[in-house]
Amino acid sequence: MPLEITHLFGLKGVSREDIDTILDTAVSFREVLDRPIRIVPTLKGVAVLNLFYEDSTRTRISFELAERRLSAEVVSFSKSSSSVSKGESLRDTVRNIEAMKIDLIVVRHRSPGTPRFLAAHTGCRIINAGDGEHEHPTQALLDMMTMRRHFGTFEGLRVLIVGDILHSRVARSEIWGLTTMGVRVDVCGPSTLMPLDMRGFDVTVHHDFDRVIAEYDVIYMLRIQKERQPAGLIPSAREYTAMYGLTKDRVKRMSPEAVIMHPGPINRGIELDYEVADSDRSLILEQVTNGEAVRMAVLYLLSGRSEQ
Ligand code: CP
Repeated sequence: MPLEITHLFGLKGVSREDIDTILDTAVSFREVLDRPIRIVPTLKGVAVLNLFYEDSTRTRISFELAERRLSAEVVSFSKSSSSVSKGESLRDTVRNIEAMKIDLIVVRHRSPGTPRFLAAHTGCRIINAGDGEHEHPTQALLDMMTMRRHFGTFEGLRVLIVGDILHSRVARSEIWGLTTMGVRVDVCGPSTLMPLDMRGFDVTVHHDFDRVIAEYDVIYMLRIQKERQPAGLIPSAREYTAMYGLTKDRVKRMSPEAVIMHPGPINRGIELDYEVADSDRSLILEQVTNGEAVRMAVLYLLSGRSEQ
């Protein structure tokens, strides 16, 4: 079934049907990834530009792999080795690249709204790979796929997102996507790392991690984003860990079937204990594998090939 959306700017406003279509398609692509030969001709003749103005390991590599596994033509752009360093604007950069016949652009940029800006100034389909503190939709979709694969359903699922909600584009996409699917999502962290206004979100805000940890099926830990916060929002890393870190002792308070997730990169020893990150309750590497399948699904569905 074709998607209602033509670009993926975020998960706010994306329908339940579109999310289901993306996740179901990702399940088929996950089967491709589990084969000995992990390549299909689905996007032969489609040109994709990866436009990363911010650093990335997981998102960039998995998009590139997803594109190559679908047999697309792939061009990857990095800010430091381009004419951006000579002062060329984002608009001029993409208009020039578009003139080289690009169909899809995957973009990561520190400014919220960059994907919409590109959609307004090019004729390409746009996929948001993280725009500032706004949204990171493919991260939320891969997390949703991981939860659905693990628990078999979204029904009755309770997810607690812990940490720096204020600066987290992942938390925003996670909340929009999961609540659309009927999942109960709550957040927990210090008040200095909570947005002042949570009224638009259908979530309960907690500050006492130990009191609520046992109530959830998924404990979703966020990274402390040192690069996005001014000093002083947390007293010290040690005190943050004491209150909000997922330590070995805290894991004992989790519900017996509950799992641990994290978008990466992890600050080991701060939001997650070293052993906890690698424990058998952690789905972190499963998230990464599913990320490739979800990105294959999004690329395929937005390329228009699914309609042909
Ligand atoms: N989760 C995530 O977006 O990781 P990268 O910044 O490494 O892409």
